[in-house]
Amino acid sequence: MCGIVGYCGYRSAAEVLLSGLKRLEYRGYDSAGIGLGDGKSLDVYKTKGKIKDLREHVPQEASGIIGIGHTRWATHGGVTDINAHPHMDTDKKIAVVHNGIIENYMPLKEMLIGEGYKFISETDSEVLIHLISKFYTGDLEKAVKEALMLVKGTYGIIAFHKDNPDQLVGARNGSPLVLGIGEDEMFLASDVSALVAYTKRVVYFEDHEVVTISKTDYSTSNIDNEAINKEVENISWELEEMEKGGYDFFMLKEIHEQSQSVPRAYQGRIDEEMATAKLGGLNMTSRELLDVERVKIVAAGTSYHAGLVAALQMESMARIPCSVELASEFRYRNPVVEKNTLYFALSQSGETIDTLYAMREIQRKGGRCLGVCNVVGSTIPRESDGGVYLHSGPEIAVASTKAFTSQITALYLFTLNMARMRDLSTEGGLRFIKALKELPIQLEKALGDSEHIQALAKKYAKYPHFLFLGRGINYPVALEGALKLKEVSYIHAEGYSAAEIKHGPIALINEETPSLFLVADDHLKEKVISNMKEIKARDGMVIAVAVEGDKEVAGIADDVIYVPRVDPAFNPFVMSIPLQLFSYYCAIELGRDVDQPRNLAKSVTVE
Ligand code: M6R
Repeated sequence: MCGIVGYCGYRSAAEVLLSGLKRLEYRGYDSAGIGLGDGKSLDVYKTKGKIKDLREHVPQEASGIIGIGHTRWATHGGVTDINAHPHMDTDKKIAVVHNGIIENYMPLKEMLIGEGYKFISETDSEVLIHLISKFYTGDLEKAVKEALMLVKGTYGIIAFHKDNPDQLVGARNGSPLVLGIGEDEMFLASDVSALVAYTKRVVYFEDHEVVTISKTDYSTSNIDNEAINKEVENISWELEEMEKGGYDFFMLKEIHEQSQSVPRAYQGRIDEEMATAKLGGLNMTSRELLDVERVKIVAAGTSYHAGLVAALQMESMARIPCSVELASEFRYRNPVVEKNTLYFALSQSGETIDTLYAMREIQRKGGRCLGVCNVVGSTIPRESDGGVYLHSGPEIAVASTKAFTSQITALYLFTLNMARMRDLSTEGGLRFIKALKELPIQLEKALGDSEHIQALAKKYAKYPHFLFLGRGINYPVALEGALKLKEVSYIHAEGYSAAEIKHGPIALINEETPSLFLVADDHLKEKVISNMKEIKARDGMVIAVAVEGDKEVAGIADDVIYVPRVDPAFNPFVMSIPLQLFSYYCAIELGRDVDQPRNLAKSVTVE
């Protein structure tokens, strides 16, 4: 969850680290720090708060051509200056930043205390610096490797020694690490967003790999000291994609990008002649795809909801049983991995540890797991047996928005392919493709209603509780709407099947609890309308998201948000837009930190 960055070169290390940390801030933002070296001294500046607070702590004249930085999401130990990274050894000669969790830190700490080492923080990470210091005899890389041999848990670390202003040592296990190669400068970071302003040439690391950099060179090996060759890759993301581009918040920008990000997920992947989709990255022959009897998706949070939408469509259109499971639960319940089941790990970041470990469990049991991810080069796509990239561009707001619709798009393409290999006719395939290609215009229309949604947010943001209700393929959209609202506005919200409310949740209806209904014009519409009436009969407030021109719904609900009419399979796209905008504007109304809500982080790399 934390972000780490390291720099070795000719620029002011402080400036590179602070700007890198700013771009990594979405990974964790409760405290931050940097350590700077120039061959004579090692200076560490750290504080609770955000990168802007750290900036105020770092003196203008802070010098150094080498350094490391960290932005924290606290796991072990409270949010304090002392618990912030970097951590230094007792002699203040070595500094280290760590992302991950050292699971066996207690016995290591006791051992080190027994040997006379003094601990000053409450963190698990502090054992690393004392271990490195214990093993250091003039060779930092060797000391880091010896220290890591004793460690159980996850880490992405960067360390440097005061006496060597031209050397950083990085290593990873379970937490990401990437090297950026510049001209007379090198960078290390948790992800490419910290490097893209300086270089596009990168090397991604696997678990148990170690890298040592100077400003002009780097060497890679594994923890067992075997040299390894790594491929240099090019980053496709542009710096501008990581800027707010005139919007007040990334979340709003990313919501509005969906009319472009959705087509990016399907472009080049549609075969009109055969009325199907072609996904080269699956690494599967048609014969292997034909053998698939079941599909299972593992995911977390918003990705889980996107998986639920896609699963319903897969079952109804491709006639393949498809289920979705929370990755965190899947991994620990000794799951049955079946031979003819195809697994998907669905994750925007490609780093979510629950999803990654669920995928590893599937693979360990001999299952085939494909990745559907947005971040190119992230761990899930690299370790999966094939997959699909979303090409949504960077999603920086902690609340996931554009990734949701792109994930559904990517899985719909797979569904189309599977359906065309089974029952779906050419006409059916072409109808689906036509509806898919009309989506960008429909999404633009849905986005055009933002002033009205902003006005509704002003009216409703004062209510402490919300129910989000939908049915069929829009039930997962209701779950996602509730997640979005609670995540960014801190209003308590629950998502339910509209049919379920009479089994309990209707007891919550009172003057403080509005219900937001998703009323698609599909086979379940009349049932949903009955559920709305049940709420109105109990004096509950109702906001409805309905298809344009639906007067019946307008006659029942207190307020209506209209969305364009689309093929029923595509309602989750147009219906999720108003829910995202509603959450955003409620959060603004309540003065929340929209892009970095409290207690959260974008990339959840701890269990
Ligand atoms: O990167 P992932 O898609 O694997 O992330 C999964 C969840 O952590 C993520 O969707 C989270 O729920 C978002 N904050 C929701 O907006």
